[in-house]
Amino acid sequence: MKNIKNKLFSKEPVTIGPESGYDNYIMAIESSCDETACAIVKNGREVIANVVASQIKTHAQFGGVIPEIAAREHLDSINIVIDEAFKQAKEKANLKPEDITAFAGTVGPGLVGCLLVGLNAAKTLALTYDKPFIGVNHLNAHLCGNYLDTDLKPPFMALLVSGGHTQIIDVKSYSEQTIIGETIDDAVGEAYDKVARLIGLPYPGGPKLDKLAQEGNPYAFKLPEARVDGYNFSFSGLKTAVLRLVKSFEKKEMPVKDICASFQETVSSTLLHKLKKALESSGYKQVVIAGGVAANSEIRKKIFNLQNEGYNVFAPPMKYCTDNAAMVASCAYFNTNTYDDINTEVFSRVK
Ligand code: KG4
Ligand code: ZN
Repeated sequence: MKNIKNKLFSKEPVTIGPESGYDNYIMAIESSCDETACAIVKNGREVIANVVASQIKTHAQFGGVIPEIAAREHLDSINIVIDEAFKQAKEKANLKPEDITAFAGTVGPGLVGCLLVGLNAAKTLALTYDKPFIGVNHLNAHLCGNYLDTDLKPPFMALLVSGGHTQIIDVKSYSEQTIIGETIDDAVGEAYDKVARLIGLPYPGGPKLDKLAQEGNPYAFKLPEARVDGYNFSFSGLKTAVLRLVKSFEKKEMPVKDICASFQETVSSTLLHKLKKALESSGYKQVVIAGGVAANSEIRKKIFNLQNEGYNVFAPPMKYCTDNAAMVASCAYFNTNTYDDINTEVFSRVK
């Protein structure tokens, strides 16, 4: 529960969260990277509206996200996604802008110029409709993607895998979470994108590599699984090993599908090894996967296999794995580690 006081004209703080005693409709905006998104979620779980404008096509021609172009595209799309979310909410639940309980926006981590667009839009809406503003951490939001359309409750162990992060997180309660392991170099998504580039796949490489891997032999090449202490990870050595493998085929036809499959097998086994170790030591019976790479077919398959060992497994559907605003709205509702000061600034790196 959180009491938020930043309403302009009202003196009383507004209570947000599961213990507020009334239905909360939170509109959230996400713009941390290359997706402009707006969503409205009822009580942290029921998605009333969900709109995402992707910039993938724009950035594909450059082989990666260009921050300045991304920020400009957010500016072009922001009003469109907000209008569309209000339209969906009107059609689905006869909800008007005045019925929104609070407006939320991603504060960071992400690209500063991009974050500024979405966060200022969320603040403006809060001020316009005289409702509370809630700033949300993007990584916490990814975890909350698992609360959408489910009845998941903490405690659980979470594997957060995205373009910028690889973490094992002990989620003790909605607001209490400890990172118990993380990558010491590349994030998993970053490793996927770099390896994809090495073998000549266009951006964004992760999903394309995944697709090819499904047609290859995962045991064709033995690639190294890094030995790192505790629950930490390292993927830069694996990337170098793939580079060496690719070079060895310079004058021959490269078995692309087998290389993809072998890389995917090594990554997914490494992740699952550590995750299982963390699960066993915690005694938790629930496990969750989150972040853009949670869309990966082999990682999903391996994590769902844990059901055979008696674990409750949660993985968001694809639309809630990659960047979206519904997860931000859910986080604004459930997580008390939010920023309710209307002057909250964006930040680029993990705080
Ligand atoms: O969470 P996300 O949408 O953005 C952030 O990094 O916050 O994650 C994007 C990352 C990219 O690196 C992309 O290549 C990767 O997720 N990704 C995948 C798959 N789908 C997305 N990586 C492997 N297999 C996939 N199916
Ligand atoms: Zn993300």
